[in-house]
Amino acid sequence: MRKLITGGRIITAVDDYVADVLVEDETIVAIAAHIDVDADEVIDAAGQYVLPGGVDPHVHFRMPFAGTETIDDFTSGTAAAVRGGTTTVIDFPLQSRDKGLIETLDHWHGLLGQDQPMVDVGFHMIVSDLSDGKLAEVPRLVDEGVTSFKLFMAYKNSLMADDETIFEALCASADHGLLTMMHAENGGVIDVLVRRALAEGRTGPKYHESTRPAKAEAEAVHSAIAIAEMAGAPVYIVHLSAEESLHHVAQARARGIAAYAETCPQYLFLDSSVYDLPEFEAAKYVFTPPARAKHHQEALWRGLAFDDLAVVSTDHCPFCFADQKRLGIDDFSKIPNGGPGVEARLQLVHDGGVRTGRISLNRMVDVLSTTPAKLFGLFPKKGTIAVGSDADLVIFDPNKREVLSVETQVSKVDYCNYEGREVVGSPTVVMSRGETVARDGKVVGRPGHGRFIKRAQHLEPLPGRRIDTSIKVIS
Ligand code: URP
Ligand code: ZN
Ligand code: ZN
Repeated sequence: MRKLITGGRIITAVDDYVADVLVEDETIVAIAAHIDVDADEVIDAAGQYVLPGGVDPHVHFRMPFAGTETIDDFTSGTAAAVRGGTTTVIDFPLQSRDKGLIETLDHWHGLLGQDQPMVDVGFHMIVSDLSDGKLAEVPRLVDEGVTSFKLFMAYKNSLMADDETIFEALCASADHGLLTMMHAENGGVIDVLVRRALAEGRTGPKYHESTRPAKAEAEAVHSAIAIAEMAGAPVYIVHLSAEESLHHVAQARARGIAAYAETCPQYLFLDSSVYDLPEFEAAKYVFTPPARAKHHQEALWRGLAFDDLAVVSTDHCPFCFADQKRLGIDDFSKIPNGGPGVEARLQLVHDGGVRTGRISLNRMVDVLSTTPAKLFGLFPKKGTIAVGSDADLVIFDPNKREVLSVETQVSKVDYCNYEGREVVGSPTVVMSRGETVARDGKVVGRPGHGRFIKRAQHLEPLPGRRIDTSIKVIS
């Protein structure tokens, strides 16, 4: 099957030119000013951008949390992703303390196998415990294409890992070429603040914000980077939300430490005024870290522009307002943490980032596709438009307007955090390995087209890399 995309403006992290793109089956086979071949389908992209498909390295489908499970499975979650121009997602198998790493991975493969993903799916491993020989499973994990860990410094008495486990995981990631993602918040401080709030009768959803201060995040970011430095390992801070956290990342990078960080649309576009909403409405915004005071947003945009923030992921972690969020109606600490987002990432970042001049088009592609593909071992199959790369492509009309709404979204969740917001610029065609999976805001893909993708290592493994913490060039 041959598809020819003609006359589009090809935007990669570094290129910007008009050309034709020829796709044969799953792969880009030619790019040239004019390609004159017989094709099964010709797509006229004149006046539109041709972008590499988005790579969202932070989604939670079927994630168990607070006695419930995220409402999107791998079928509905990937359908929501493709509608918004994301063609690769990385999800998180979650290790319970009594389970091994491979046992956990097998379980998550079982869950993925019950669903019909529309696009390619990778896995990070959430590590809770490395005692009793579990560390010895790491090489097998790498063989299975799971080349990154996530550890929690928060959620005391459930997901939170102790410093010993964090250090062991970081040492193992240095030895075996993995990248460790850190949920950086000081769990002990937050636990005390939450208990005090509840004891004083402050039980509503607005207290989610005041009990998770920016300082608790910044302190943990600093600590995570210091522990990674001692382990000689690269580190990736997830869902960074606060200016003071960003300072720690920037300072580490200026010292040559391989510290990376992502932020998410909820921190770029929402602010803490959402917690003043009446009744239980604020529960829709109970995600972690919470939305911050408005001034943090410009700092995050600057971080993206100057590369101290490397990625915009979504942390898509949807729980329905009608029933799931209500689990915490009398106690905000019981509200399942998380919000939707996988669908609107490209539209929001284009509208609020590129159209406002905060970041360039190239940088948008970099933070939504190229850098996550590089950091997480997917490049150059994913993350760029090049001969030999997967034909994961988004044809994007920069002038097409859409109003974001629960009425039109694909995710199964029953609310939209950006309800009524108009965005300018929308995908018109989304292709995953040569198959058209979305067209004009409608999902037209084949459930089951998506595959599990084994990812390469972040770095060449180098046992005993304890002292060399400098940023390595990744290609
Ligand atoms: O509120 C959030 N972010 N829930 C998902 C779990 C996590 O911390 O990433
Ligand atoms: Zn997290
Ligand atoms: Zn998350």
